[in-house]
Amino acid sequence: MFSTDRTNKWFKEFTDNYKFEGMLHPMLDLKLKHSKRVSLICTETADSMGWDENGDSWLAHTAGLLHDVGRFPQYKTYSTFFDSISVDHGDLGAEIISKEFDWEGIPENLRENVVSAVKFHNKKIVPAGLKLGPYKWSCLVRDADKIDIYRMVEERIDKGTIFEMLPRHRMAEGLSSDLVEEIKMTGSGSYSNARSLQDYRLIQLTWGCDLNFPVSVATLKEEKIIERIREDLRPYGAKDLVDNLINRIYSME
Ligand SMILES: [Fe+2]
Repeated sequence: MFSTDRTNKWFKEFTDNYKFEGMLHPMLDLKLKHSKRVSLICTETADSMGWDENGDSWLAHTAGLLHDVGRFPQYKTYSTFFDSISVDHGDLGAEIISKEFDWEGIPENLRENVVSAVKFHNKKIVPAGLKLGPYKWSCLVRDADKIDIYRMVEERIDKGTIFEMLPRHRMAEGLSSDLVEEIKMTGSGSYSNARSLQDYRLIQLTWGCDLNFPVSVATLKEEKIIERIREDLRPYGAKDLVDNLINRIYSME
């Protein structure tokens, strides 16, 4: 009943539809690879927390792999990944998989968990009042998604390819006072206030405060990702804010 091979097959056929002359657009190829990594992180995280009820490993694999399905039609139609000027890719992905995924033999409650995880993975907050299953699986995908982006940013900084991912941020350096103020006041930062790589890194710290599972924090800690952000931001001031955010992240572990 729970076949990850069937999930993979559906995902491959779905993404193959976005190929042109046998190739995905490089931006979509990044999303394809990201989806596979997030699927793996979901599986590892669920395993490490001992989630081993019937269907759990299928759920982790499937929710992770499908979470960004909406990115494919979004990019095809609007040529952007900015939800604010195109479409909410979580909502779109949830709508697509509800109708098109191969649900044969999957119980209704598990289906609801996957659809909710896709729908809510990109929302500012997971809405209060969700049932436990949809809530728990949304939290898992949100953590896994963040972990992969943290890793990807570090890797790109190391390789010198970070500005391919953040082209708008190439021209500025340092922390924007508007962003620092916004984060001090609200705890989160808008991308519209982020002008530099340092601004982006500061926003990354705010995501860390939103992680759901101690094991996610432990993973970032073990990989020294948070400490590296602290070091990289050190020359640019706002030390109290940075330390404060990092203390909040670590307090969850
Ligand atoms: Fe996403």
